[in-house]
Order: sequence, then structure tokens, then C-alpha cells
Amino acid sequence: MKIGLLGIGTIGTGVREHLAGRDDISIKRILVRRDHPELGALATFHYEDILFDPEIDTVVELMGGMQPAFDYVLSALKAGKNVVTANKLMLSYHFEELLAAAQQSGVLLKIDASVGGGIPYLFNLMRSGRADTIHSLFGIVNGTTNLILDTMQLNGSEFSDVLAQAQRAGYAEADPSADIDGIDARSKLCISASIAFRRFVRPDDIAVSGIRNITREDIQVFKKLGYVCRLLVRAERIDADHICAFVEPTLLNPSEPEATVHRNDNLIGLVGEYVGQQYFFGQGAGKDPTAFAVVLGLTDILNGVRPLLGHEPQGYAAVDNSRLAHRYYVRTTSRLSIAAEKLRGHGDANLYLTAPMPVDRMHALAASLRMRDPNLFFAGVRG
Ligand code: HSE
Repeated sequence: MKIGLLGIGTIGTGVREHLAGRDDISIKRILVRRDHPELGALATFHYEDILFDPEIDTVVELMGGMQPAFDYVLSALKAGKNVVTANKLMLSYHFEELLAAAQQSGVLLKIDASVGGGIPYLFNLMRSGRADTIHSLFGIVNGTTNLILDTMQLNGSEFSDVLAQAQRAGYAEADPSADIDGIDARSKLCISASIAFRRFVRPDDIAVSGIRNITREDIQVFKKLGYVCRLLVRAERIDADHICAFVEPTLLNPSEPEATVHRNDNLIGLVGEYVGQQYFFGQGAGKDPTAFAVVLGLTDILNGVRPLLGHEPQGYAAVDNSRLAHRYYVRTTSRLSIAAEKLRGHGDANLYLTAPMPVDRMHALAASLRMRDPNLFFAGVRG
């Protein structure tokens, strides 16, 4: 197998190192954006050198971002080349089109590296549809925010210091807003839900709130209340065409499985009709685990492994987040017009614990309050 590698950042470098010494898979060209003298003749600035090279049968897209990654991947599939990609943002918006292009050309689109890094989660989720009905998906799918929340909780660190640590470790996205605003987690939930419920899901239909505004003081309050905060995703099947799907910081009892997840680890759970509850745990971000998942995808292509075969999503799910309700912690300088208990004894901050309220209502309320109070922070409360 001869591959064209698009991008030589953290993961691309990991893939190159991982493939060194293999004789069944070799890199023929690497698309670069700036000079890389160490790559010699492997490097090219022109995607056409990969697209029109008949010896290259597989394109590995590790550039990230929407464009030009989407055009490159779509044209590779249409040209009859297999594609391996870790690009969750692109997949969340274009999964249907890319899957259709792969099917029309009779090639494989391998996306295992896009969710959960090195954890064999997506591969098994794809296969589970052959023998089960998935009722729900939940857990931690973003390593950067987990590292931030865990380190703030354990060491009392400042948000910005831990974010810088995640960037140095190569966990964070090129623009870390995608991590801290929950967009990366939303992309991963969108891909997972499309596979689990066999209906494509539009990323913009998923309610999302991140941890950009969380402070050291919030974490101190959570500790006093006996909670641990994690950025969680959740999707639930309502019926064949309707689901709930949202991303939000969540306060958990310390004994809950997600509360015990440390550093950049991920913990992704599912509930199936037959299989019951299952958890997938491991490193969800970083060079080596993600490179491992990419290389595993390449070996699947070599072996003709098609986990989704016959169970591809059909049509689109409608997202209805009015069906799930829970309490919320809210810190805002605005007046809350909903049933909520004011938390006293925590200095000057206006802190509230609401009565159970539907997820869609809380996210809409927060969006409207943030126009006057951009620093508002809220988190769901479980239990
Ligand atoms: N920025 C992502 C994370 C990388 O922190 O989980 C892995 O997808």
C-alpha cells in the first residue's frame, strides 16, 4: 500500500514514525504547507501530486479543519482512493456525502481515529449495529478539557496554565477554542450518534456548552458541594427518527465512573438493547495513540475490513432536547427568572442550583443571558 499523507503535524509525524520499518505500507508523498527540508523528495506543496499519482491508493488526511481538507478528501474518494482521516470537524458536517462518495467508488473511508484516539471504540460501535439497537451514548471524548478540569480540581491550577500544558503535549486542537467551547466533543458525539442510531445527525442541532468560563473559584465551590466537574457528551434514542444530543460540563459524585477519569483519558459508554452497558477507556488524544488508530485503519484497508457494511446511517435524525431534564449549577451576574435555589456562603458570586429543567431550555436561557453576562458559566448536575 502506498499512501499520500496530508499534513505533517503532531499526528502526521506520529504516523510517519509508526510506519517506519514496515514493508506493507509506505508513504509516497507528504503534502506540506511550509518547507520541510528533512522530508526531501517526499514533500510536496501540490495536492495534485498525490491525487493524480496512480501508485498512491490511499490518502491519509491529518490536516484538520474544514477546508481544504474536505475538498481533498472528497476528490480522493471520487478518484478511487481509500481515505483514512482523523478529521472529526469535517466528518461531522460531511459524513453523508463522504460515505456516499466512498460507496460509489467502491473504496474505504476509515474514520476510527476521529473519536477516542487509540481506543477501539468507534470500530466496535460500527459493528454493534449488526446485532443490537443502541439506546444511548455518553461520556468523556475530549482529552484537553479533561486534563484542564482534572488538574484544576487536583492542584487548584489556573485554567490558562493547564491549557498551555495541553497544547505543549499536543492534545489541544490548532485553535483550542474547539476544545474549550465543546465543539470538538460535539463533532465526536455527532459522528458517534450517526453511527449508533443509524441516522445522520447535524452538528448544529446538538446543544453545546463548554468550559471556557470556568474559574478556580467554581471548582472550589464544586469541591465544597462534593462534586467533580467533567465535560460530558450524551445522546439518547427517543425513537427511530428522534434523539436527544448535547454536550455540557456536568457535576458528578466523585464515585461516578467519569469522575475517576484523569489527565487526557477518555471514557465513552454505550447502552445497547442486548449488550447492556459497555465502557471504552483509554488515551483519547495525543500523537502515539491517534497515530496507532490511523495505522490500524490502514491495516483494515489492507485486509478489506468494512465494519459499517450494510449498517450505514440513512436519512437524518431530528434532535429534541426537551425530553431530558436535570438540575443545573449557574453562575451569573444576571437575575435568574427560573425556579432556583441561591447558593450562599461562597463570597460575592451569584450562584444558583436550579430545579430540574429540560436541556434545551437551559441552553437557550444561557445563550440569552450571555448577551448581558458573557462570563456566565453553567453545568448540569447528575444525581
Ligand atoms: N483536541 C482533541 C482532544 C484531540 O483533546 O481530545 C483528540 O481528538
